[in-house]
Amino acid sequence: MKSKVILAIESSCDETSMSIVKDGHIELSTVTLSQIDIHTLYGGVVPEIASRNHIENITIVLDECLKKANMKIEDIDAVGVTYGPGLSGSLLVGLQCAKTLAYLYNKPLIPVHHIAGHIYANRLVGEFKFPLLALVVSGGHTDIILMKEDYSFERLGGTLDDAIGEAYDKVARVIDLPYPGGPRIDKLASIGKHTYNLPTPMDDDSFNFSFSGIKSAVINLVHNEKQRGNEINKEDLACSFQETVVNLVSKKAMHAIKENNIKQLIVAGGVAANNGLRNKLKNLCEENDVELLIPPISYCTDNATMIGCAAYYALQKGKTSDLKLNAKPVESLKEYLN
Ligand code: KG4
Ligand code: ZN
Repeated sequence: MKSKVILAIESSCDETSMSIVKDGHIELSTVTLSQIDIHTLYGGVVPEIASRNHIENITIVLDECLKKANMKIEDIDAVGVTYGPGLSGSLLVGLQCAKTLAYLYNKPLIPVHHIAGHIYANRLVGEFKFPLLALVVSGGHTDIILMKEDYSFERLGGTLDDAIGEAYDKVARVIDLPYPGGPRIDKLASIGKHTYNLPTPMDDDSFNFSFSGIKSAVINLVHNEKQRGNEINKEDLACSFQETVVNLVSKKAMHAIKENNIKQLIVAGGVAANNGLRNKLKNLCEENDVELLIPPISYCTDNATMIGCAAYYALQKGKTSDLKLNAKPVESLKEYLN
């Protein structure tokens, strides 16, 4: 495919983000307005507030993004947008903006699945070498995905209940840490010790996970200790939780790598920012002679750059849409590819 410059839009949760990306891996400009300070007041993302803020922010972000790249919309080859999964009201704002631009400037419209975006954030770091294994660890997903070629996603397994990021956020909440809890648990874990014994559900040969059991075990432990008048050592609890989930996820990823004769592991989603997970996977990949790609920390959580990377490969596969494209708050990668 000849050179393509794509304007990408991501608004599936609480970040209003736009990016201009060339050829699926060259970032020309990105502007992201985070609403985290607003939602922290409520202990989590409030969907109605998120969509209202997207409406206020989206044209400002568009202007800034074009200005930063010193470009006009006429210079863009196509518009890529996250159409799902995510919060319905939030998705609709980005989608409406993308459809309006595609219509007004007569540009192809590329629907991008949010998780395909997280996976393709890794193209900012290096080339993909197939077959590869993508470990997706985010606030809404925990999946082990086999990719035999670009833009093909075969799910080997994943969580049967809570996503790993969700478990991080709930554990953080029960020990009174503000939203989003993942980065805060990560920080405490680095100074704590693994002293609390937590269960490891589904510690088997499958590629599936269950995080709700570990989360409930932590919640029960905290409540029981409170009732007995005992202080919880937050650093040690954070470390115990982090080591338990990181060990489990890494073990299953390495198992999938061995079973499928994989030489490259890519890690995607907000929890890929976790230092415990990054270090563990780095060591395991070195020991097992597997190449590891992980996006820089700021590209692990939601951003439009990753959507711009994925959109290039979606376009290469002919994945464009007409203006009837609608938001899909719940959508698997399989449904997306059909
Ligand atoms: O990928 P993401 O931005 O949103 C979804 O697509 O879901 O992921 C957000 C999740 C949150 O649960 C957040 O707590 C978690 O990623 N997260 C972390 C870290 N940074 C973000 N979890 C653990 N350690 C971190 N350093
Ligand atoms: Zn995400």
